[in-house]
Amino acid sequence: MPTHKKTILITGGAGFIGSHVVRLFVNKYPDYHIVNLDALTYAGNLANLKDVEAAPNYTFEKADITDESRIREIFDKYRFDAVIHLAAESHVDRSIMDPLAFVRTNVLGTANLLHVSLSFWREALEGKRFYHVSTDEVYGSLGKEGFFTEETPYDPRSPYSASKASSDHFVMAWYHTYGMPVILSNCSNNYGSHHFPEKLIPLMINNILHHKPLPVYGKGENVRDWLYVDDHARAIDTIFHQGKTGEKYNIGGFNEWKNIDIVHLLCSLMDKKLGRTPGESAKLITYVKDRPGHDLRYAIDATKLNKELGWKPSLQFEEGLEKTVDWYLANQDWVTAVTSGDYQHYYAQQYVKR
Ligand code: NAD
Ligand code: TYD
Repeated sequence: MPTHKKTILITGGAGFIGSHVVRLFVNKYPDYHIVNLDALTYAGNLANLKDVEAAPNYTFEKADITDESRIREIFDKYRFDAVIHLAAESHVDRSIMDPLAFVRTNVLGTANLLHVSLSFWREALEGKRFYHVSTDEVYGSLGKEGFFTEETPYDPRSPYSASKASSDHFVMAWYHTYGMPVILSNCSNNYGSHHFPEKLIPLMINNILHHKPLPVYGKGENVRDWLYVDDHARAIDTIFHQGKTGEKYNIGGFNEWKNIDIVHLLCSLMDKKLGRTPGESAKLITYVKDRPGHDLRYAIDATKLNKELGWKPSLQFEEGLEKTVDWYLANQDWVTAVTSGDYQHYYAQQYVKR
């Protein structure tokens, strides 16, 4: 194998955001060796990385981040210079159904990665970096006003956000206690290609296409701040290379939308794309029982990242959404593959009789 400038472990690289980060790093940094470690749960899919799988600077390792001996074996094999940690259970509704799976992967898995990384790096921490990718959901729920800053106290409300908040605390504990060179970012909701169709935007695209009911929780008044996934991957690249050790950075799209407005936007966009009569898809909108503990509003203040590291989002939401819809329409084989099997079972549990 050629000598590489850096060997980087990316966890969760077969998932939605992870696959975009892996693609960016493999293509942009041919002198880095990128090792993608993923357990390939229902959310992980190697088809997401077809275009880079043959690259000479890319390797895949199937492993579970909670499996200490397997993670040690992989660290021993590659002697990583850095970790970018994205592997997680990531869906709030699933965390309500099965909270312990989230504790296991997000809390125990993160602590295990920190523990193994430190044991390999302890003698030479200089130049190492453990980058933990987290979410704005750790800050809890906003009212109609205000924004989450890096100083906002943590106030998670769902088993998902509590498990991510806990993992963030473990990352900072390793920094303060052991001097582990960590860095952390908290991002708002992402959208784009390869997004598993259990989350709002890809689920609505899929249901509109197949004339299925569009399940809007509660009154559809909840607000999220949406960021195009490639902009998140660029932010991770920027923070990984230029961010300050021990610091955290908020990442957001400065782009707040009510759920119901997004669903209407998707309906009219898809009416045009599919040659339907204007208003046809919107007839599928169905208000369903609200999510328990449903956070009202998330809004990120990403000023620190913009001022200190010069990052800003590149795409307008309408443009990003159209690219996303086009990707789903052109990649129905991908959708069919990921929605067969377990997805049907999940869908029935989550939406039937709601
Ligand atoms: P995803 O669910 O699409 O992908 C998660 C990946 O992790 C999958 O490939 C899965 O196979 C893998 N994985 C799960 N459990 C594992 C385990 N025990 N060991 C090894 N691999 C495992 O998630 P995503 O939306 O791409 O999110 C990636 C990260 O970004 C997560 O840490 C999430 O909390 C964070 N995040 C997501 C968003 C968002 O909008 N999706 C926003 C901010 C932060
Ligand atoms: P989601 O994509 O699950 O992301 P998160 O809960 O992490 O923000 O949901 C985004 C918003 O859309 C959230 O307010 C819940 C709502 N939602 C629906 O109304 N219907 C759905 O079928 C889904 C999946 C989400």
